Amino acid sequence: MCGIVAYLGDKDAFPVLIKGLKRLEYRGYDSAGIALIEEGDINLYKCKGKVSDLEDHIGGKSVRGTVGIGHTRWATHGEPNDINAHPHTSESGNLAIIHNGIIENYASLKEELTQRGHTFKSDTDTEVLIHLIEDIQEREGVKLGEAVRIALNGVIGAYAIVVIDKDRPKRLIAAKKSSPLVIGIGEDDFYLASDATPIIEYTKNVVYLNDEEIAILDLDKGLKLVNIANQEKTPYIQELELKLEALEKGGYEHFMLKEIHEQPRSIADCLRGRINSLQGRVQLGGIKDYEDKIAKANRVIMVACGTSWHAGLVGEYLFEDLARVPVEVEYASEFRYRNPIITENDVVIAISQSGETADTLAAIKMAKERGATIIGICNVVGSTISRETHGGSYTHAGPEIGVASTKAFTAQVTVLTLMALSIAKKKGVIEESRFRRLLIELENIPSKVEEVLKINSQVEFIADIYKDANNALYLGRGLNFPVALEGALKLKEISYIHAEGYPAAEMKHGPIALIDEAMPVFVIATKDASYEKIVSNIQEVKARKGKIIAIVTEGDETVKGIADHTIEIPETDDSLVPLLATIPFQLLSYHIAVMRGCNVDQPRNLAKSVTVE
Ligand code: AGP
Ligand code: GLU
Repeated sequence: MCGIVAYLGDKDAFPVLIKGLKRLEYRGYDSAGIALIEEGDINLYKCKGKVSDLEDHIGGKSVRGTVGIGHTRWATHGEPNDINAHPHTSESGNLAIIHNGIIENYASLKEELTQRGHTFKSDTDTEVLIHLIEDIQEREGVKLGEAVRIALNGVIGAYAIVVIDKDRPKRLIAAKKSSPLVIGIGEDDFYLASDATPIIEYTKNVVYLNDEEIAILDLDKGLKLVNIANQEKTPYIQELELKLEALEKGGYEHFMLKEIHEQPRSIADCLRGRINSLQGRVQLGGIKDYEDKIAKANRVIMVACGTSWHAGLVGEYLFEDLARVPVEVEYASEFRYRNPIITENDVVIAISQSGETADTLAAIKMAKERGATIIGICNVVGSTISRETHGGSYTHAGPEIGVASTKAFTAQVTVLTLMALSIAKKKGVIEESRFRRLLIELENIPSKVEEVLKINSQVEFIADIYKDANNALYLGRGLNFPVALEGALKLKEISYIHAEGYPAAEMKHGPIALIDEAMPVFVIATKDASYEKIVSNIQEVKARKGKIIAIVTEGDETVKGIADHTIEIPETDDSLVPLLATIPFQLLSYHIAVMRGCNVDQPRNLAKSVTVE
């Protein structure tokens, strides 16, 4: 992963790079660094830690230069320290590079280069690449752009790179494969970044680089694109729709809290123009042409990672129950290496907030080669996955900056619900009355989420009681089993408390042995078809002195009588409960993480988009 940013123009590059790196910090925060061409030299400023550490490191030094590159790292090769921080320079020090990705054959390249007299300062794969580029430049007597092209032909792996040359301060070379790179075209300057967020305030005109494309940016000659086979390509300039305000914290202490509170709006945005309960209509423009294919599919395979995989599990229940389409939900990382049986009658749905997750991307590429129809559910507009799919629907949740996914999850579940309803209607397998009732209930979800958010201070009170737990169990049945998994993941990733999500009925097959008075057990016990059964599961926990914190339907008395704490959520259709029940768990992990002094928006070892395997 990691974030890269670059500037070429006549403005002061430093503030553009620092601001850009702060926007990209969600992608990695092991180290940060900048290289600037200052008075004919490449000067490096880099250190372990965050962008704010880099600012401290630079201190009051006067940093100038109108050409520069910046990097915020999520280490893959070499520990996070000052030396391994990007940018890296070539043997002569004339070239500098920033890189997002992995050069898989770096070891053999490094050996060859070492034999030719190269010496390396860092343990990174990236440094090998910049040495290779210079080696080719010198041996073949070619220009930098051509040397980059030849080098990339010999590289296995993933990359988004930007290279600068101290002797050519009006030029930049950029290239990408499997890692994202956007070029912003200013009036007389260029901005490059891993996503559009560092670019948006300077220009709305962008070019998304495609895989194996190399961009040569020249202040006199403009932008030229070639692919690694040396064919010239025409840049496709698009206009960004992103708004700057969407990237700010808006008065909240953390992005995660802001994003939790945005859910009434993000779900409404996701539904907008797609349903109308009065007319009994559901329409998802991006899958219209594929609905027939989905309705008649042998099976639908949902591929995703992490939270998006949990959304897929909710989708499985919805598709099978409402639309009667058989579904399998797969971890993308397992699916892609399992030699799965895929036919032309299969539909693969890739679910990804970022649209850049390497495993999910590889899984759909493989399924596409084998003839399946590929549908995407992505949040980031223009992301790689959204461009690799045949059709799909955006979640329209707006930028999600907190590493822990919140509003993206509820938006994914909302899109999956709309898809399931639309297929169900097309197949004629849903009663009109149920269909209409679900549409009305869906339209009511944003205001019900608003209601749920009012329990914030009650959840904070509960968080204070359980913040020192070492373990936690999350239980749910049916559609709420994935909600339990998601609750446990949220607690793990931002509070570093070990937590397990389990189907409530499975508890007695093992995890029940863990229960004692120190074990908080979070249960979704809303009034649905399995209510009586979950009440029995709660009794089983209480009989062993476990602590029960239950999410219940407004007005519930039975569970209130048994549980240690109850959190009420408004009544809704059974199929839509996950959209409400997940919110108290988001708030709970948020407050526990804050109380434990954890970095909520940037939890340790994690990054927002996982663009490496
Ligand atoms: C969720 O809180 C995590 N940060 C993580 O599990 C995430 O959902 C996963 O990495 C998948 O990302 P994607 O949706 O961008 O593909
Ligand atoms: N492989 C490079 C490194 O470890 C880049 C990592 C990344 O893209 O996050 O430094």
